[in-house]
Amino acid sequence: MKDLKYLIDKLKTQRSLTRDEWTALIVGRTPELAGYLFELARKERHLHYGHDVYVRGLIEFTNYCRNDCLYCGIRKSNPHVSRYRLSEEHILDCCRIGYDLGFRTFVLQGGEDGYYTRERMVHLIERIRFRHPDCAITLSIGEKSREDYQAFYEAGANRYLLRHETFNANHYSRLHPPSLSAAARQKCLWDLKDIGYQTGTGFMVGSPYQTPQDLAEDMLFIRELNPQMVGIGPFIPHHDTPFSNEAVGTLELTLFMLGLLRLMLPKVLLPSTTALGTIDPKGRELGILAGANVVMPNLSPTGVRKDYALYDNKICTGDEAAECRQCLERRMESIGYRVVTARGDSLNL
Ligand code: SAM
Ligand code: FES
Repeated sequence: MKDLKYLIDKLKTQRSLTRDEWTALIVGRTPELAGYLFELARKERHLHYGHDVYVRGLIEFTNYCRNDCLYCGIRKSNPHVSRYRLSEEHILDCCRIGYDLGFRTFVLQGGEDGYYTRERMVHLIERIRFRHPDCAITLSIGEKSREDYQAFYEAGANRYLLRHETFNANHYSRLHPPSLSAAARQKCLWDLKDIGYQTGTGFMVGSPYQTPQDLAEDMLFIRELNPQMVGIGPFIPHHDTPFSNEAVGTLELTLFMLGLLRLMLPKVLLPSTTALGTIDPKGRELGILAGANVVMPNLSPTGVRKDYALYDNKICTGDEAAECRQCLERRMESIGYRVVTARGDSLNL
Protein backbone atom coordinates (compact mmCIF):
# COMPACT_ATOMS: atom_id res chain seq x y z
CA MET A 1 0.00 0.00 0.00
CA LYS A 2 2.75 2.46 1.04
CA ASP A 3 4.54 1.99 -2.26
CA LEU A 4 1.63 2.80 -4.52
CA LYS A 5 -0.09 5.43 -2.41
CA TYR A 6 2.28 7.97 -3.93
CA LEU A 7 0.70 7.31 -7.34
CA ILE A 8 -2.74 8.16 -6.03
CA ASP A 9 -1.32 11.31 -4.45
CA LYS A 10 0.35 12.17 -7.74
CA LEU A 11 -2.91 11.61 -9.60
CA LYS A 12 -4.68 13.94 -7.20
CA THR A 13 -2.18 16.76 -7.66
CA GLN A 14 -1.29 16.34 -11.34
CA ARG A 15 -4.53 14.76 -12.62
CA SER A 16 -2.56 12.39 -14.80
CA LEU A 17 -0.16 9.48 -14.73
CA THR A 18 2.06 7.84 -17.32
CA ARG A 19 1.02 4.61 -19.02
CA ASP A 20 3.40 2.63 -16.82
CA GLU A 21 2.14 4.33 -13.68
CA TRP A 22 -1.50 3.61 -14.53
CA THR A 23 -0.60 0.00 -15.18
CA ALA A 24 1.34 -0.34 -11.92
CA LEU A 25 -1.51 1.16 -9.94
CA ILE A 26 -4.14 -1.10 -11.51
CA VAL A 27 -2.01 -4.22 -11.15
CA GLY A 28 -0.92 -3.41 -7.60
CA ARG A 29 -4.29 -2.30 -6.22
CA THR A 30 -5.24 -3.57 -2.75
CA PRO A 31 -8.35 -3.08 -0.61
CA GLU A 32 -6.42 -0.55 1.53
CA LEU A 33 -5.35 1.41 -1.51
CA ALA A 34 -8.92 1.36 -2.82
CA GLY A 35 -10.20 2.68 0.51
CA TYR A 36 -7.73 5.54 0.32
CA LEU A 37 -8.68 6.26 -3.30
CA PHE A 38 -12.43 6.29 -2.59
CA GLU A 39 -11.97 8.72 0.27
CA LEU A 40 -10.15 11.18 -1.98
CA ALA A 41 -12.61 10.59 -4.82
CA ARG A 42 -15.58 11.34 -2.56
CA LYS A 43 -13.91 14.55 -1.37
CA GLU A 44 -13.56 15.73 -4.97
CA ARG A 45 -17.09 14.80 -5.75
CA HIS A 46 -18.47 16.61 -2.68
CA LEU A 47 -16.44 19.69 -3.54
CA HIS A 48 -18.04 20.02 -6.98
CA TYR A 49 -21.37 18.25 -6.76
CA GLY A 50 -22.09 17.97 -3.03
CA HIS A 51 -24.29 15.01 -2.13
CA ASP A 52 -26.54 15.48 -5.17
CA VAL A 53 -27.16 12.57 -7.48
CA TYR A 54 -28.42 13.38 -10.96
CA VAL A 55 -30.95 11.11 -12.62
CA ARG A 56 -31.28 10.46 -16.34
CA GLY A 57 -34.40 8.88 -17.77
CA LEU A 58 -33.23 6.10 -20.05
CA ILE A 59 -35.49 5.30 -22.99
CA GLU A 60 -34.34 2.20 -24.87
CA PHE A 61 -36.29 2.96 -28.00
CA THR A 62 -35.09 0.27 -30.41
CA ASN A 63 -33.24 -3.01 -30.15
CA TYR A 64 -32.72 -3.40 -33.91
CA CYS A 65 -29.02 -3.18 -34.62
CA ARG A 66 -26.96 -3.45 -37.78
CA ASN A 67 -23.81 -4.12 -35.76
CA ASP A 68 -22.48 -7.37 -34.46
CA CYS A 69 -20.36 -6.54 -31.43
CA LEU A 70 -19.28 -9.87 -30.01
CA TYR A 71 -20.27 -9.02 -26.43
CA CYS A 72 -23.71 -7.53 -27.05
CA GLY A 73 -26.98 -9.40 -26.62
CA ILE A 74 -28.81 -7.38 -29.28
CA ARG A 75 -26.15 -7.97 -31.96
CA LYS A 76 -27.65 -8.53 -35.37
CA SER A 77 -26.73 -12.18 -35.61
CA ASN A 78 -28.60 -13.11 -32.46
CA PRO A 79 -31.77 -14.69 -33.88
CA HIS A 80 -33.37 -15.13 -30.46
CA VAL A 81 -33.99 -11.44 -29.83
CA SER A 82 -37.57 -10.32 -30.13
CA ARG A 83 -37.01 -7.06 -32.00
CA TYR A 84 -38.99 -3.91 -31.23
CA ARG A 85 -38.90 -0.23 -31.92
CA LEU A 86 -40.98 2.41 -30.19
CA SER A 87 -42.93 4.86 -32.30
CA GLU A 88 -42.39 8.59 -32.01
CA GLU A 89 -45.64 8.92 -30.06
CA HIS A 90 -44.59 6.19 -27.68
CA ILE A 91 -41.25 7.86 -27.06
CA LEU A 92 -42.97 11.19 -26.42
CA ASP A 93 -45.23 9.42 -23.92
CA CYS A 94 -42.17 8.09 -22.09
CA CYS A 95 -40.78 11.64 -21.93
CA ARG A 96 -44.04 12.98 -20.53
CA ILE A 97 -44.16 10.30 -17.86
CA GLY A 98 -40.52 10.99 -17.09
CA TYR A 99 -41.06 14.72 -16.89
CA ASP A 100 -43.87 14.24 -14.37
CA LEU A 101 -41.56 12.07 -12.30
CA GLY A 102 -38.97 14.85 -12.16
CA PHE A 103 -36.59 13.84 -14.94
CA ARG A 104 -34.94 16.75 -16.75
CA THR A 105 -32.68 14.65 -18.95
CA PHE A 106 -33.87 12.05 -21.42
CA VAL A 107 -31.42 9.57 -22.83
CA LEU A 108 -32.56 8.03 -26.09
CA GLN A 109 -30.59 4.84 -26.47
CA GLY A 110 -30.81 2.18 -29.10
CA GLY A 111 -29.09 -0.17 -31.46
CA GLU A 112 -27.95 1.20 -34.80
CA ASP A 113 -31.37 0.94 -36.37
CA GLY A 114 -31.68 1.87 -40.07
CA TYR A 115 -35.34 2.78 -39.61
CA TYR A 116 -34.33 5.77 -37.55
CA THR A 117 -32.83 7.78 -40.39
CA ARG A 118 -31.43 11.27 -39.99
CA GLU A 119 -34.81 12.75 -40.97
CA ARG A 120 -36.76 10.63 -38.50
CA MET A 121 -34.32 11.37 -35.68
CA VAL A 122 -34.40 15.09 -36.40
CA HIS A 123 -38.19 15.06 -36.35
CA LEU A 124 -38.25 13.19 -33.07
CA ILE A 125 -35.64 15.44 -31.43
CA GLU A 126 -37.46 18.58 -32.55
CA ARG A 127 -40.70 17.36 -31.02
CA ILE A 128 -39.08 16.50 -27.69
CA ARG A 129 -37.25 19.83 -27.69
CA PHE A 130 -40.53 21.69 -28.38
CA ARG A 131 -42.42 19.90 -25.61
CA HIS A 132 -39.64 19.98 -23.05
CA PRO A 133 -37.60 23.14 -23.60
CA ASP A 134 -36.10 22.89 -20.10
CA CYS A 135 -34.76 19.37 -20.53
CA ALA A 136 -31.50 18.01 -21.85
CA ILE A 137 -31.78 15.54 -24.72
CA THR A 138 -29.06 12.91 -24.77
CA LEU A 139 -28.54 10.53 -27.67
CA SER A 140 -26.83 7.16 -27.54
CA ILE A 141 -27.35 5.64 -30.96
CA GLY A 142 -23.85 4.72 -32.02
CA GLU A 143 -21.61 5.70 -34.89
CA LYS A 144 -23.03 8.19 -37.39
CA SER A 145 -21.59 10.61 -39.93
CA ARG A 146 -20.50 14.03 -38.78
CA GLU A 147 -23.38 15.47 -40.81
CA ASP A 148 -25.88 13.34 -38.91
CA TYR A 149 -24.43 14.42 -35.58
CA GLN A 150 -24.57 18.06 -36.71
CA ALA A 151 -28.21 17.71 -37.79
CA PHE A 152 -29.23 16.12 -34.46
CA TYR A 153 -27.44 18.89 -32.60
CA GLU A 154 -29.20 21.60 -34.58
CA ALA A 155 -32.53 19.88 -33.95
CA GLY A 156 -31.97 20.28 -30.22
CA ALA A 157 -29.90 17.36 -28.90
CA ASN A 158 -27.38 18.51 -26.30
CA ARG A 159 -25.48 15.44 -25.24
CA TYR A 160 -24.18 12.24 -26.81
CA LEU A 161 -22.99 9.04 -25.19
CA LEU A 162 -20.66 6.83 -27.20
CA ARG A 163 -18.37 4.59 -25.21
CA HIS A 164 -15.05 4.05 -26.94
CA GLU A 165 -15.27 0.51 -25.40
CA THR A 166 -11.49 0.04 -25.43
CA PHE A 167 -8.82 2.36 -26.83
CA ASN A 168 -6.33 -0.25 -27.93
CA ALA A 169 -6.93 -1.12 -31.60
CA ASN A 170 -5.87 -4.73 -31.24
CA HIS A 171 -8.08 -5.31 -28.23
CA TYR A 172 -10.93 -3.50 -30.00
CA SER A 173 -10.62 -5.84 -32.96
CA ARG A 174 -11.03 -8.87 -30.70
CA LEU A 175 -14.36 -7.56 -29.41
CA HIS A 176 -15.85 -6.42 -32.71
CA PRO A 177 -16.34 -7.64 -36.28
CA PRO A 178 -13.81 -6.40 -38.87
CA SER A 179 -16.25 -3.76 -40.11
CA LEU A 180 -15.79 -1.79 -36.88
CA SER A 181 -12.58 -0.12 -35.76
CA ALA A 182 -11.28 1.70 -32.73
CA ALA A 183 -10.15 4.59 -34.95
CA ALA A 184 -13.61 5.09 -36.47
CA ARG A 185 -15.21 5.03 -33.04
CA GLN A 186 -12.73 7.56 -31.69
CA LYS A 187 -13.21 9.84 -34.69
CA CYS A 188 -16.92 9.98 -33.87
CA LEU A 189 -16.05 11.16 -30.38
CA TRP A 190 -13.81 13.95 -31.64
CA ASP A 191 -16.55 15.01 -34.09
CA LEU A 192 -19.13 15.09 -31.33
CA LYS A 193 -16.93 17.23 -29.13
CA ASP A 194 -16.08 19.53 -31.98
CA ILE A 195 -19.76 20.07 -32.83
CA GLY A 196 -20.40 21.17 -29.26
CA TYR A 197 -22.10 18.18 -27.66
CA GLN A 198 -21.59 17.45 -24.00
CA THR A 199 -19.88 14.19 -24.81
CA GLY A 200 -19.72 10.96 -22.88
CA THR A 201 -17.35 8.09 -23.51
CA GLY A 202 -16.42 5.01 -21.49
CA PHE A 203 -15.43 1.37 -21.49
CA MET A 204 -16.37 -2.04 -20.19
CA VAL A 205 -14.37 -3.32 -17.26
CA GLY A 206 -13.17 -6.90 -17.53
CA SER A 207 -14.13 -7.41 -21.17
CA PRO A 208 -12.55 -10.53 -22.70
CA TYR A 209 -8.78 -10.25 -23.34
CA GLN A 210 -8.55 -6.91 -21.52
CA THR A 211 -5.18 -6.29 -19.86
CA PRO A 212 -4.17 -3.67 -17.28
CA GLN A 213 -2.23 -1.97 -20.09
CA ASP A 214 -5.46 -1.65 -22.07
CA LEU A 215 -7.09 0.04 -19.09
CA ALA A 216 -4.07 2.33 -18.79
CA GLU A 217 -4.56 3.35 -22.41
CA ASP A 218 -8.25 3.95 -21.76
CA MET A 219 -7.31 6.37 -18.99
CA LEU A 220 -4.82 8.20 -21.21
CA PHE A 221 -7.38 8.50 -24.00
CA ILE A 222 -10.07 9.80 -21.66
CA ARG A 223 -7.66 12.34 -20.24
CA GLU A 224 -6.90 13.57 -23.75
CA LEU A 225 -10.53 13.64 -24.90
CA ASN A 226 -11.59 15.33 -21.67
CA PRO A 227 -15.26 14.36 -22.01
CA GLN A 228 -18.11 15.70 -19.92
CA MET A 229 -19.21 12.23 -18.91
CA VAL A 230 -17.62 8.79 -18.55
CA GLY A 231 -19.79 5.68 -18.40
CA ILE A 232 -18.10 2.49 -17.27
CA GLY A 233 -19.54 -0.80 -16.16
CA PRO A 234 -18.51 -4.42 -15.82
CA PHE A 235 -18.65 -6.67 -18.85
CA ILE A 236 -21.41 -9.24 -18.28
CA PRO A 237 -21.76 -12.20 -20.65
CA HIS A 238 -24.93 -12.76 -22.64
CA HIS A 239 -25.84 -16.40 -23.25
CA ASP A 240 -26.52 -15.93 -26.99
CA THR A 241 -23.18 -14.31 -27.88
CA PRO A 242 -19.71 -15.68 -28.68
CA PHE A 243 -18.65 -14.49 -25.23
CA SER A 244 -21.28 -16.49 -23.36
CA ASN A 245 -18.66 -18.39 -21.36
CA GLU A 246 -16.38 -15.49 -20.54
CA ALA A 247 -15.92 -14.24 -16.99
CA VAL A 248 -17.90 -11.31 -15.59
CA GLY A 249 -16.00 -8.07 -14.91
CA THR A 250 -15.57 -7.60 -11.18
CA LEU A 251 -17.24 -5.15 -8.84
CA GLU A 252 -13.90 -4.50 -7.20
CA LEU A 253 -12.06 -3.43 -10.37
CA THR A 254 -15.03 -1.39 -11.64
CA LEU A 255 -15.18 0.55 -8.39
CA PHE A 256 -11.42 1.12 -8.46
CA MET A 257 -11.65 2.52 -12.01
CA LEU A 258 -14.53 4.80 -10.96
CA GLY A 259 -12.38 6.22 -8.16
CA LEU A 260 -9.46 6.77 -10.54
CA LEU A 261 -11.71 8.54 -13.04
CA ARG A 262 -13.06 10.88 -10.36
CA LEU A 263 -9.54 11.82 -9.31
CA MET A 264 -8.38 12.30 -12.89
CA LEU A 265 -11.37 14.42 -14.00
CA PRO A 266 -12.81 15.82 -10.75
CA LYS A 267 -15.77 17.56 -12.41
CA VAL A 268 -16.79 14.81 -14.79
CA LEU A 269 -20.25 13.22 -14.65
CA LEU A 270 -19.85 9.61 -13.62
CA PRO A 271 -22.81 7.21 -13.68
CA SER A 272 -23.15 4.30 -11.36
CA THR A 273 -24.47 1.95 -14.00
CA THR A 274 -27.19 -0.66 -14.24
CA ALA A 275 -24.50 -3.24 -15.05
CA LEU A 276 -22.88 -2.47 -11.70
CA GLY A 277 -26.25 -2.97 -10.02
CA THR A 278 -26.63 -6.24 -11.90
CA ILE A 279 -23.44 -7.88 -10.60
CA ASP A 280 -24.05 -6.83 -7.00
CA PRO A 281 -27.28 -5.91 -5.20
CA LYS A 282 -25.54 -2.86 -3.71
CA GLY A 283 -23.44 -2.14 -6.80
CA ARG A 284 -24.95 1.24 -7.59
CA GLU A 285 -24.65 2.46 -4.00
CA LEU A 286 -21.02 1.34 -3.91
CA GLY A 287 -20.42 3.12 -7.22
CA ILE A 288 -21.64 6.38 -5.71
CA LEU A 289 -19.41 5.84 -2.69
CA ALA A 290 -16.45 5.33 -5.03
CA GLY A 291 -17.03 8.74 -6.65
CA ALA A 292 -19.93 8.38 -9.12
CA ASN A 293 -22.69 11.02 -9.17
CA VAL A 294 -25.31 9.94 -11.73
CA VAL A 295 -27.87 7.12 -11.93
CA MET A 296 -29.94 6.21 -14.95
CA PRO A 297 -33.29 4.64 -14.10
CA ASN A 298 -35.22 3.04 -16.88
CA LEU A 299 -38.11 4.92 -18.50
CA SER A 300 -38.73 2.38 -21.25
CA PRO A 301 -42.20 0.82 -21.29
CA THR A 302 -42.16 -2.35 -19.17
CA GLY A 303 -43.49 -4.37 -22.12
CA VAL A 304 -40.18 -4.08 -23.99
CA ARG A 305 -37.66 -3.93 -21.13
CA LYS A 306 -36.68 -7.57 -21.21
CA ASP A 307 -36.04 -7.36 -24.95
CA TYR A 308 -33.28 -4.79 -24.47
CA ALA A 309 -31.05 -7.44 -22.97
CA LEU A 310 -27.45 -6.44 -23.63
CA TYR A 311 -26.30 -8.98 -21.04
CA ASP A 312 -27.83 -11.66 -18.81
CA ASN A 313 -29.82 -10.99 -15.62
CA LYS A 314 -30.19 -7.25 -16.25
CA ILE A 315 -32.00 -5.65 -13.31
CA CYS A 316 -35.12 -3.48 -13.38
CA THR A 317 -36.71 -5.21 -16.34
CA GLY A 318 -40.04 -5.60 -14.55
CA ASP A 319 -40.36 -2.27 -12.78
CA GLU A 320 -42.45 0.72 -13.81
CA ALA A 321 -40.62 4.02 -14.30
CA ALA A 322 -42.03 5.42 -11.08
CA GLU A 323 -40.92 2.37 -9.10
CA CYS A 324 -37.40 2.59 -10.48
CA ARG A 325 -37.17 6.24 -9.65
CA GLN A 326 -38.42 5.70 -6.08
CA CYS A 327 -36.21 2.69 -5.61
CA LEU A 328 -33.15 4.68 -6.56
CA GLU A 329 -34.22 7.58 -4.37
CA ARG A 330 -34.38 5.22 -1.39
CA ARG A 331 -31.09 3.60 -2.29
CA MET A 332 -29.32 6.96 -2.52
CA GLU A 333 -30.87 8.18 0.73
CA SER A 334 -29.68 5.04 2.49
CA ILE A 335 -26.07 6.13 1.88
CA GLY A 336 -26.56 9.84 2.61
CA TYR A 337 -27.10 11.15 -0.92
CA ARG A 338 -30.16 12.65 -2.59
CA VAL A 339 -31.59 12.43 -6.06
CA VAL A 340 -32.25 15.90 -7.49
CA THR A 341 -34.60 17.21 -10.15
CA ALA A 342 -32.21 19.12 -12.36
CA ARG A 343 -30.69 18.97 -15.80
CA GLY A 344 -27.38 18.25 -14.12
CA ASP A 345 -25.03 19.69 -16.71
CA SER A 346 -21.41 18.72 -16.45
CA LEU A 347 -19.04 21.11 -14.73
CA ASN A 348 -16.21 19.61 -16.76
CA LEU A 349 -16.15 22.09 -19.60
N1 SAM B 1 -25.72 1.40 -30.11
C1 SAM B 1 -25.24 2.40 -29.22
C2 SAM B 1 -23.74 2.35 -29.13
O1 SAM B 1 -23.13 1.52 -29.78
O2 SAM B 1 -23.17 3.19 -28.44
C3 SAM B 1 -25.86 2.35 -27.84
C4 SAM B 1 -26.29 1.02 -27.31
S1 SAM B 1 -24.96 -0.05 -26.78
C5 SAM B 1 -25.84 -1.55 -26.53
C6 SAM B 1 -24.65 0.59 -25.15
C7 SAM B 1 -23.48 0.04 -24.40
O3 SAM B 1 -23.81 -1.21 -23.82
C8 SAM B 1 -22.22 -0.23 -25.15
O4 SAM B 1 -21.48 0.94 -25.32
C9 SAM B 1 -21.50 -1.29 -24.30
O5 SAM B 1 -20.45 -0.72 -23.55
C10 SAM B 1 -22.61 -1.79 -23.37
N2 SAM B 1 -22.72 -3.26 -23.44
C11 SAM B 1 -23.10 -3.99 -24.49
N3 SAM B 1 -23.01 -5.31 -24.20
C12 SAM B 1 -22.56 -5.41 -22.94
C13 SAM B 1 -22.25 -6.50 -22.08
N4 SAM B 1 -22.36 -7.75 -22.48
N5 SAM B 1 -21.82 -6.22 -20.82
C14 SAM B 1 -21.70 -4.95 -20.41
N6 SAM B 1 -21.97 -3.89 -21.18
C15 SAM B 1 -22.39 -4.10 -22.44
FE1 FES C 1 -35.17 0.03 -11.18
FE2 FES C 1 -34.46 -0.19 -8.53
S1 FES C 1 -33.73 1.15 -10.03
S2 FES C 1 -36.14 -1.10 -9.62
